[in-house]
Amino acid sequence: MNADIPSFREASGRLLPLIEKSLTDAVAFPGIPETTLIRAMRYALLLPGKRLRPLLVLLACEACGGFSAKALPAACAVEMVHAFSLIHDDLPCMDDDDLRRGKPTNHTVFGEAQALLAGDALLALAFRTLAEHLPQGIASSCVHELAQASLAMAGGQSLDMEGFGDNPPRGEIEGMERKKTGALITAALEMGGIVAEASQEHLAALREYGWRIGLAFQIMDDLLDVEGSQEDTGKRVGKDAEKGKRTLPAIIGVERSRKRAEQLIEEACSALEIFQSGSTMLLSLANFIEVP
Ligand code: IPE
Ligand code: IPE
Ligand code: MG
Ligand code: MG
Ligand code: MG
Repeated sequence: MNADIPSFREASGRLLPLIEKSLTDAVAFPGIPETTLIRAMRYALLLPGKRLRPLLVLLACEACGGFSAKALPAACAVEMVHAFSLIHDDLPCMDDDDLRRGKPTNHTVFGEAQALLAGDALLALAFRTLAEHLPQGIASSCVHELAQASLAMAGGQSLDMEGFGDNPPRGEIEGMERKKTGALITAALEMGGIVAEASQEHLAALREYGWRIGLAFQIMDDLLDVEGSQEDTGKRVGKDAEKGKRTLPAIIGVERSRKRAEQLIEEACSALEIFQSGSTMLLSLANFIEVP
């Protein structure tokens, strides 16, 4: 890695406490009686995740010359949609997982009905957060981005659940992975750019960077399911093969998948060239994805 690029720890250390505080405040609901639904929402949102998507919102905002504090509502909103997607992804009718972020999954703790509803509520809260805490024009553009990405995510998850024929072409698997994971990651970056009132040129560069790191991130997640440990990932491993999931490693093998992820990260970094020095943190983040 280039010595001029700050480490991911450096990039995230400054912003993570701001993100954690905003997320905690977003599910505090002062004056509202405590309910199982609220506890399930908090459990999903506040258990320690990497906060990749909120970090991308803030770093994209900074790369486009904006103040990251102004992008915190968008950072929280994207993490809420992500938390919702994880609750539903783990349900018995989907991937049927009992471990997430090193802890029992939401439905294991609160039951399927409450988990399902906590997911629904987090999705709604994401959009309320954008509408309430961003200036009107910016809020409506962010709502559009996040809605498009949530729709794409549902589409990608649907393809993932449906499965593929015997020898699906690599492009088909990548298309599904771009939808289920890449779209939300791209929306995070775009929302950061929108808050900073970035030029069309900068927004286009963020999109080019976004879908590539999004796809690389899902490939790395698929690789970790093959090669990683429960301890490191906080999730059960070996589940994709057990469920017969058509991931990239399952189709083209571990080595070629790793190469593909590396190529995507390299291309993603090239897309940032128009930012010159403003995007060093995004470069650092891309390199973190490569070596989780
Ligand atoms: C897991 O996402 C699901 C995927 C889309 C691969 P993350 O790996 O970002 O999960 P957390 O937020 O750190 O738990
Ligand atoms: C999930 O992909 C993508 C989502 C949209 C949640 P996975 O099913 O591979 O994610 P993990 O491995 O359970 O985190
Ligand atoms: Mg899944
Ligand atoms: Mg899963
Ligand atoms: Mg996975």
